[in-house]
Amino acid sequence: MGQVKVQSAEAPKTERRVVTTIRGRAASDGAGVKLTRVIGQPALPDLDPFLMLDEFGSDKGADYIGGFPDHPHRGFETVTYMLAGRMRHGDNQGNVGLLRPGSVQWMTAGRGIIHSEMPEQEEGLMQGFQLWVNLPAKDKMTKPRYQDIDPEAIPVVERADGTKVKVLVGSFDGVRGPVTDVATDPTYLDITLPAGNSASVTVPAEHNAFAYVFEGSAKIGAGNAAQPVARGELAVLSLGDAVTIEGGAGGGRLILVGGRPLREPVAKYGPFVMNTPDEIRQAIADYQAGKFV
Ligand code: CO
Repeated sequence: MGQVKVQSAEAPKTERRVVTTIRGRAASDGAGVKLTRVIGQPALPDLDPFLMLDEFGSDKGADYIGGFPDHPHRGFETVTYMLAGRMRHGDNQGNVGLLRPGSVQWMTAGRGIIHSEMPEQEEGLMQGFQLWVNLPAKDKMTKPRYQDIDPEAIPVVERADGTKVKVLVGSFDGVRGPVTDVATDPTYLDITLPAGNSASVTVPAEHNAFAYVFEGSAKIGAGNAAQPVARGELAVLSLGDAVTIEGGAGGGRLILVGGRPLREPVAKYGPFVMNTPDEIRQAIADYQAGKFV
């Protein structure tokens, strides 16, 4: 008797590949904080459901000391992932929190919030990311909500080959991140790969996804489709079941982020992201009338 091959009922996994790579551009926001805007700039205005990705990283106090004084948000979520340094967060509802190295704040602005993010240091390295995630029309006026996640609460999957994956939201190797109940069902992983080691990372097939290399370099894609991605480059990924990522010479560290696209009209005006110009006018009027409470 020959061996019986069991046919899997599932279709073979499709590999995501790099569609294009984008470099961020220097920008300034808040009270003169210097940063690199990667999503939300002419080369990549958005990547549904992601509206903005800023990388900040400086050891010069003058680049960040002004912080982000009181400002409003409505209609989406802001996600701050700190790698180094400390930021004090506060809002008009009396919520306060300290963002420290390795912590995540997932803030659902919903119908409106006025908050500030100010450095809690005058010198030393301040480094991290802020990602803006859109909300579906039905959730834009939801009650504001915070998920403040301590560094210790973020699971780290460590493989014998030295690969390290921090799971902020979504899952990797069956380990789920602590951020929950987000409308776009996102994945947000911080992946460290030694040189030449590779990992296959699953992101729900219909979700848009990108990888941003912030240390070293990586190769993204399987087999002949593998493409080098350098530090400071964002790789927009094609749809598919999984993506193969390999550490470049000297290793690499990147964030891999995915989310369910909303495919709804986007009306954007500064810190307000709604579906129509009328809703933007209403947001401005409500803010000016002191209704963001
Ligand atoms: Co803000």
